[in-house]
Amino acid sequence: MEERKIAIVTGASKGIGKATVIKLKQLGYTVISISRSQPDVGDVKYQIDVSNKDEDFRVVKEVKEKFGKIDVLVNNAGFGVYGSFLETSLEEEEYMVRTLFLAPIYFTKAVLPDMVKRREGAIVNIVSEAAYVASPKLIVYSASKAALAHFTNALWAEMRKYNVKVSGVYPGPVKTNFTSHPSFKNAKNTIFDKYAVEPEKVANAVVKAIRSGKREIYVSSRLIIDPYFLKLAMAMQNLTYYIISKIF
Ligand SMILES: NC(=O)c1ccc[n+]([C@@H]2O[C@H](COP(=O)([O-])OP(=O)(O)OC[C@H]3O[C@@H](n4cnc5c(N)ncnc54)[C@H](OP(=O)(O)O)[C@@H]3O)[C@@H](O)[C@H]2O)c1
Repeated sequence: MEERKIAIVTGASKGIGKATVIKLKQLGYTVISISRSQPDVGDVKYQIDVSNKDEDFRVVKEVKEKFGKIDVLVNNAGFGVYGSFLETSLEEEEYMVRTLFLAPIYFTKAVLPDMVKRREGAIVNIVSEAAYVASPKLIVYSASKAALAHFTNALWAEMRKYNVKVSGVYPGPVKTNFTSHPSFKNAKNTIFDKYAVEPEKVANAVVKAIRSGKREIYVSSRLIIDPYFLKLAMAMQNLTYYIISKIF
């Protein structure tokens, strides 16, 4: 009989994380669910704040002791604080950086050595289109996601020789609780709401990432021009870097 695969999913109480837990369980995984509020899906549930490094390492240690290995890590926990950089508080911004960027580093640091030893495993980071197209009013959010994208890309390159898969999943707007953060109360979300996709679509992309180890997987919104817009933004970025490299 094939051994059960063990997966850790952060941000498992709602939205994309919850959909991912449900999907992985359907595929036969044993899933460890993590969030600040009690997750209601998953085989083992942890109620921790992922921005707390000690808690992250403690959880990974306990999971390893209980199950002997970790096959998959999905770094998904996150939130965004909406507002002009002039208005948002430094405390909230620091908390965002710790949650969106540092927590994936903590968890990766904790699980990676064993994956390398076993020459097996997958790490999937839920990034965002905002990593490529930085959003005004979500400046530190976008910057944290851009940092996470760089981390993911470089780790992908480093881990190839160890057969450890590293992927970034880049969703556009998704129908979740993301915009229920109080800071969004005055945001105009008309386009967001209209073109957002279901979280299950992102969960399917996570499964694709686990299986393929593809470096980047995009989950476009239902807006027909979205994939082209993104390609255009990437082409513009490449052009910009090309020009900069010629000037300096
Ligand atoms: N929705 C979108 O349009 C969209 C687009 C691109 C990328 N994303 C990314 O997708 C990921 C999931 O977001 P979502 O859209 O599914 O939002 P969501 O429905 O609000 O879910 C966010 C999850 O993260 C958990 N969480 C947040 N901060 C945490 C912390 N410090 N420690 C532990 N758990 C924490 C929340 O649980 P608790 O509140 O119980 O802690 C919840 O389970 C985020 O990284 C987000 O940036 C979302």
